Amino acid sequence: MTKLWGGRFQKTAEEWVDEFGASIGFDQALVMEDITGSLAHVQMLGESGILSDEEARLISEGLHQLQSKASAGELEFSVAQEDIHLNLEKHLIDLIGPVGGKLHTGRSRNDQVATDMHLYLKTRTNEIIELISSFQQTLVHQAEAHVDTIAPGYTHLQRAQPISFGHHLMTYFWMLERDKARFVDGLKRTDLSPLGAGALAGTTFPIDRARTAELLGFSGVYENSLDAVSDRDFIVEFLSSSSLLMTHLSRLAEEVILWSSQEFSFIELDDAFSTGSSIMPQKKNPDMAELIRGKTGRVFGNLFGLLTVLKGLPLAYNKDMQEDKEGMFDTVLTVTGSLKIFEGMIRTMTVHTDRLEKAVSQDFSNATELADYLAAKGMPFREAHDVTGRAVFHCIQKGCFLRDLKLEDYKTFSELIEEDIYTVLAPYEAVNRRNSYGGTGFEQVKLQIQKAKELLV
Ligand code: ARG
Repeated sequence: MTKLWGGRFQKTAEEWVDEFGASIGFDQALVMEDITGSLAHVQMLGESGILSDEEARLISEGLHQLQSKASAGELEFSVAQEDIHLNLEKHLIDLIGPVGGKLHTGRSRNDQVATDMHLYLKTRTNEIIELISSFQQTLVHQAEAHVDTIAPGYTHLQRAQPISFGHHLMTYFWMLERDKARFVDGLKRTDLSPLGAGALAGTTFPIDRARTAELLGFSGVYENSLDAVSDRDFIVEFLSSSSLLMTHLSRLAEEVILWSSQEFSFIELDDAFSTGSSIMPQKKNPDMAELIRGKTGRVFGNLFGLLTVLKGLPLAYNKDMQEDKEGMFDTVLTVTGSLKIFEGMIRTMTVHTDRLEKAVSQDFSNATELADYLAAKGMPFREAHDVTGRAVFHCIQKGCFLRDLKLEDYKTFSELIEEDIYTVLAPYEAVNRRNSYGGTGFEQVKLQIQKAKELLV
């Protein structure tokens, strides 16, 4: 089939060569963005007198027809036309005749593709920001329901100090808040129009870049035509923000997987977010959480893929840049899917408060309470730490916990210990008393939730 750029060529490439070079297999995802970009371009060409009103009208009508066909899934694309831009242009010319060939006046595929990518990513980033917010809502909701559910807090995955389970959940709220801020910031650079940069050098036609930017809803234009067509930083930033977001989701996934194991049994996932085994009838697997943990790898891969593609490229456009798309599409799908799944998974999970509370009553995570108690009575903390350590060792030998020691036993460790030690050692009290700003004390957690809610409105 003849190429739209075939004039200079004496023979055509074989089909398998075309296939290797084509991007239509994946860039057809940009069909709507490409038409939107063309509509703005042709309107501007008409307004600037570069095309006659009649030409601009015919082309716009043709583009609108293609738009309807595309949304009805009736547009066919061919490898011979290489990519979405040439496919659409060919369709336009077939539909309205040679006047369709005027659409590409003062434009190149280089500024065209960059425009499509900016439009696409701007929309998707906004959707992702919305999804982050709704997941945050769910986290706040669950955290609020579990402000006074006492859970073991860990360091090194060893029981450390009792905490509010709500406090633990809120940690993810704040991670996501930073993720959201990164996406919002990235939007500033995504929200720029490269259209009108031409192939690399601008154009001899009296185009109006501000007008196309305005028509497309961009808040500004690239200042340098070479930069406009060479820049893929906004995609790198998106992939980077996505990687960090996925890191956070993957950490939560890991916790969900641990918590739903029989060993922990802190939560149970809803059937709707679990799967069974083909052989072991008793199994209920946290597949979705595992998959999100696993898919994090491909998002990192997409980030590294694009960084590597870009690192040695001379200015301006190089065909290497066609490789910017699949990783971006894949990341959008992965991040969107992961956020939706996680929202549902956390909203529907059952928290076994009894198991959590039992866990903290049968461990030494209240040892710091004893040490702090002694320190508050004037013993140097280092000494209090040592005394408590010896008391813990004593309990381990006896096979009991700190609250099981009699007052007379305590007196052998320190005369400072009085009857009130038993209240101090209670996990609920241990949490309640950690009332320093941002701590796990109930008042602090409630305050934190209040702040979070204000951020979400
Ligand atoms: N399919 C190409 C891409 O995605 C479009 C730009 C082609 N430009 C060119 N000069 N060959 O990068």
